[in-house]
Amino acid sequence: MKRDLISMLDVKDDLNDIIALSIKLKRQSKKGKRIEHLKRKTLGMMFEKPSTRTRVSFETGMTLLGGHAIFLSSNDIQLGRGESIEDTALVLSRYVDMIMYRAKSSEAMRELAKHATVPVINGLDNKEHPCQVITDLMTIQEHKGRLKGLQFVYLGDGNNNMAHSYLLGCGIAGMNIRIVAPKQYWPEKYYREEAKKLGITVEITDKLQNATKDADVIATDTWVSMGDEAEKEKRVKEFKGYTVDTMLMSAAKPDAIFLHCLPAYYGYEVTRDVAYGSQSVIFDEAENRLWAQIGIMVTLYRCMFP
Ligand code: CP
Ligand code: NVA
Repeated sequence: MKRDLISMLDVKDDLNDIIALSIKLKRQSKKGKRIEHLKRKTLGMMFEKPSTRTRVSFETGMTLLGGHAIFLSSNDIQLGRGESIEDTALVLSRYVDMIMYRAKSSEAMRELAKHATVPVINGLDNKEHPCQVITDLMTIQEHKGRLKGLQFVYLGDGNNNMAHSYLLGCGIAGMNIRIVAPKQYWPEKYYREEAKKLGITVEITDKLQNATKDADVIATDTWVSMGDEAEKEKRVKEFKGYTVDTMLMSAAKPDAIFLHCLPAYYGYEVTRDVAYGSQSVIFDEAENRLWAQIGIMVTLYRCMFP
């Protein structure tokens, strides 16, 4: 069966299995064992926005799995000149075994997934960033030994792809979530409601007082996502006070960890002290993009060819 990863809801039933597989393959590979589960397979990687981590971790992941990845910038393929997403999906599906897509819009992402006959993986769109959130949950699992019952706190832009995928990811993992953001940057209702339906406590607030109280995990993301650049000045003003600093960290549980999907803009959403401090796990998190995506690709491929 063809299986895509477009939203966190697509891993509702096997998130823990994917995390466990990712941790297992990470361990095996680090011990020098071969993990070539996708030998001679090819991943097409289509990018409509820039990337450091997503591109390099998917490409390296495919190498470790014994396969190959092709980087396709939308400027260099016919899609950028007006070829339809439908035709692009149908053609690519004749060459490659899986497609990773970083899209400007979630509509384009869904359109590609609808027409591709091979699995499609969302490498970020304007609504969600599921690969990053699966990675983050894997990183929390490694550092805390569990997910269920933890208190997750996200500060900053509550209306972006990371906040939305965190809401769903925490819901699936059984972690309670608090989003602390100026009112105009609260998450879309759909994601709040879906998270609540998964049975967790969802708090959305603009109050900075007690923002990080009882937090096991504190996360943030840029205030200016790709595509929001024109609003930078306005946003910097509106997010004033929402910087994750040592004060906010010290008000959390003493063993709380700090996450950031990166790229980070120090002095804005987080101070450099916190990002490089003893509670920060941001570079473990960045590394885990590689292992989580290995787990994701193997899982989707096994669904297609059991
Ligand atoms: N976190 C993340 O997706 O980074 P890139 O934009 O560098 O891929
Ligand atoms: N919210 C950020 C995530 C970057 C990985 C963006 O969309 O630019």
